Amino acid sequence: MTRIFSGVKPTGHLTLGNYLGAVRQWAEVDQHRADALFSVVDLHALTVDHDPGRVRRLSKQAATLLLASGLDPEACTVFVQSHVDEHARLSYLLECVATDGEMRRMIQYKEKSARERERGGSVRLSLLTYPVLMAADILAYGADEVPVGDDQTQHVELSRDLAVRFNQRYGRTFVVPRATPPAVAARVMDLQDPASKMGKSHDSGAGIVYLLDEPDVVRKKILRAVTDSGTEVEYDREAKPGVSNLLEILAACAGGNPEGLSGVYESYGALKRATAEAVVELLAPLQKRHKELVADPAYVEEVLRRGAERAREMAKPTVDAAYRAIGLLPPT
Ligand code: TRP
Repeated sequence: MTRIFSGVKPTGHLTLGNYLGAVRQWAEVDQHRADALFSVVDLHALTVDHDPGRVRRLSKQAATLLLASGLDPEACTVFVQSHVDEHARLSYLLECVATDGEMRRMIQYKEKSARERERGGSVRLSLLTYPVLMAADILAYGADEVPVGDDQTQHVELSRDLAVRFNQRYGRTFVVPRATPPAVAARVMDLQDPASKMGKSHDSGAGIVYLLDEPDVVRKKILRAVTDSGTEVEYDREAKPGVSNLLEILAACAGGNPEGLSGVYESYGALKRATAEAVVELLAPLQKRHKELVADPAYVEEVLRRGAERAREMAKPTVDAAYRAIGLLPPT
C-alpha cells in the first residue's frame, strides 16, 4: 500500500489556506486511499525565534484541529513529531550525507535568513539544517508520497537526493519519495494581498481567515478583502487577483468552479457576501467538533499517545537499519 507522510508546523494558528490547500484533501482522500501519517512537526517550529509556551499551545491546537477536520485515528496516524525520537536520530545521519552547499541553495533558507539578517537578527543553525530534518521525517517512514504545496517541493527533492545518495553509498535503505501536489486543493491567497499565499505566519491577520475565527470575524475579513479595479466579477488571476481569490474560495467551499461562478454575481459586494457565508458554513461543523475535542483532552492525548507509538514502530526498523548501514557499531 502507498505510504503518505505530511506535516503541519505549529508556528501559527491554522488557516483556511491550510485547510483548503492541504488538510481537507488529507481527510477526504488521502487517509482512505493510503497508509497515511500526519504529524504536527513541532521540532520545525524551533528554527526561528519562538516562545516555548506558544509552541506547546499551538502544537496541541494543531493536533486537535487535524482531528476536528476529519482525520480519523482509525484510518491514519496522527502524532507529534517530538514524541518520536527517530526523527532526530535519523536527521543526524542525513546531515552526514547532505552537503552545506546543498543546504545554502534552498530557496526558503535564502529568503528567511536574508529577512532575518535585514532585521539585524541572527539565524539559527537549525534553519539551515531544517530540510534535512524534513527529509528524516519522510525517509524514516518509507513514505512514497508527500502531499505538499509548491513552496515545499524543493525540500522533497532534497529528500529524494539524500535517499538515493545514502542508498548508493551504504546499500539500499530508504524508499525514494516524491512530492504530490494536492489534486483538488484550492490555492488560497491573502485577502489583503492576493499576490501572496494565505500563510499562518504572515504579519497581519486582516487578510487571513483562521479556522477558529468566530463567524462575525470571518464575515468582516472577507467583506473587507481587497478587490480589483472595475466592477465586473471575472475569474482572471492576472488581471483580477482579488476577485479571483474570492471565486476560488467560494468554489472550494460551496462546490462548482471559479469560472462558472463568476457569471452568477452582479457585483463585488454580492460575491463577498456569498463567499463569507460559504466559509462560515464550511467552518461551522469543524469548529463544533473542535469545541467537543477541547472539552475532552484525555481523548486527544490518548490519540496522540497511540499515534506516536504506532509511528515509532514504523520508523524504528528503518532508522536502526540506517545506523547499521552507515557504520555505527550495534549496541550489545
Ligand atoms: N516544511 C513543511 C512546511 O513548512 C512542514 C514539514 C515538515 C513537512 N516536515 C515535513 C511536510 C515532512 C511534509 C513532510 O510546511
